[in-house]
Amino acid sequence: MKVLFTNIKELLQTRDSPTAVLKAGAMKELPTIKNAYLLIEDQKISQYGPMEELPTLQVDNTVDLSGKMVLPSWCDSHTHLVYAGNREQEFIDRINGLSYEEIAAKGGGILNSAKTLENTSEDDLYQQSLKRLEAIARLGTGAVEIKSGYGLSLEGELKMLRVIKRLKESSSLTIKSTFLGAHAVPLAYKSNQQAYIDYIIQTVLPQVVSQGLAQYIDVFCEKGYFSTSDMERILDAATAYGLIPKVHVNQFNSIGGIKAALKYNALTVDHLEVIKEEDITALQNSNTIAVALPLCSFFLGIPYSPAKQLIRAGIPFAIASDYNPGSSPSGNMNQVVSTACIKMKLNPEEAINAATINAAHAMGIGATHGSITPGKMANFIITKALPSYGYLMYDFGNNNIDTVYVNGKSLD
Ligand code: NIG
Ligand code: FE
Repeated sequence: MKVLFTNIKELLQTRDSPTAVLKAGAMKELPTIKNAYLLIEDQKISQYGPMEELPTLQVDNTVDLSGKMVLPSWCDSHTHLVYAGNREQEFIDRINGLSYEEIAAKGGGILNSAKTLENTSEDDLYQQSLKRLEAIARLGTGAVEIKSGYGLSLEGELKMLRVIKRLKESSSLTIKSTFLGAHAVPLAYKSNQQAYIDYIIQTVLPQVVSQGLAQYIDVFCEKGYFSTSDMERILDAATAYGLIPKVHVNQFNSIGGIKAALKYNALTVDHLEVIKEEDITALQNSNTIAVALPLCSFFLGIPYSPAKQLIRAGIPFAIASDYNPGSSPSGNMNQVVSTACIKMKLNPEEAINAATINAAHAMGIGATHGSITPGKMANFIITKALPSYGYLMYDFGNNNIDTVYVNGKSLD
């Protein structure tokens, strides 16, 4: 099946061949073609170019996109979208003056979601999560990473990971799965944290691996959660099984998580709201991608990751939603991109690069996703008629998406 899109006002993120992760000045370059055509064949992108160079083609269908723009689907490289229930009471508690950490210390936060998850059947968890997945697909997300981490027990973690697997099987979105058993210490282990880490390493991790339920390993490295040495123990064990680290570090405190993660060649280090000069230097000497989560800063009212400083330092940089019930109950990547421009001062080009090509690399799919490139998956967003692509970020909170294609098929 060949479909030809014609008269595209501007086709964004056109790259002749898959590119490496973008850094520094290259982040500001967004290749585009005005008045373009795009040809897709079955699930993949086949060719593109300016309308005046459109060859005579035999196609099954032609779609006129006059006034509209096309860009690759968003890749969301950091989410916790499999969860049960919500935490709006904590949201109100925060409005009334409690901090995220104070709520967690009272048994709220991640432990609150873990309790709800324990009392939710696997099928119900799947149905709740599927709704969120379908909603983000309509908002232009074509690939998503999903973490476990609200199970905090063998059964709970496997339940979450099986739900992620079922989502993968039932959805056309590309889904990557991450084991985050070390997300919080369950109350039963509060006085013996090392025993929980032993349990994760000796009991849960081997099952996750033998059942093929995760590609990535994550740890919440933070004061009150897991120390750098806790994280190193887990990464030692998980990388020996071949899992690749993508870790939560520097959300509230800089405690050495970045340096520790780099020893294990982490694919990404995520959050980075609080960062020291030495963290930047360490990242400069690595290939690890820094992933910022603007909606978490927005929702919790905590500092934004110093994106411009990271980009200027030549560190590969991506943005993601962090979709979860506690710190970012939204998986809307359009909002992520807008917020990155408004609050982190990214240029529209930097924000689009950070949420497409670099985001694809941040979830290990840079060869197949993240740009308009022949041979890559035909995953793209068709916008409504727009004056310019900068309007997408400027017009925050409004939906400028007309149609979404996933693997060559329209979601409509
Ligand atoms: O990325 N910081 C740790 N984990 C999540 C929040 C999880 C929650 O509050 O449920 C995050 O912000
Ligand atoms: Fe997170």
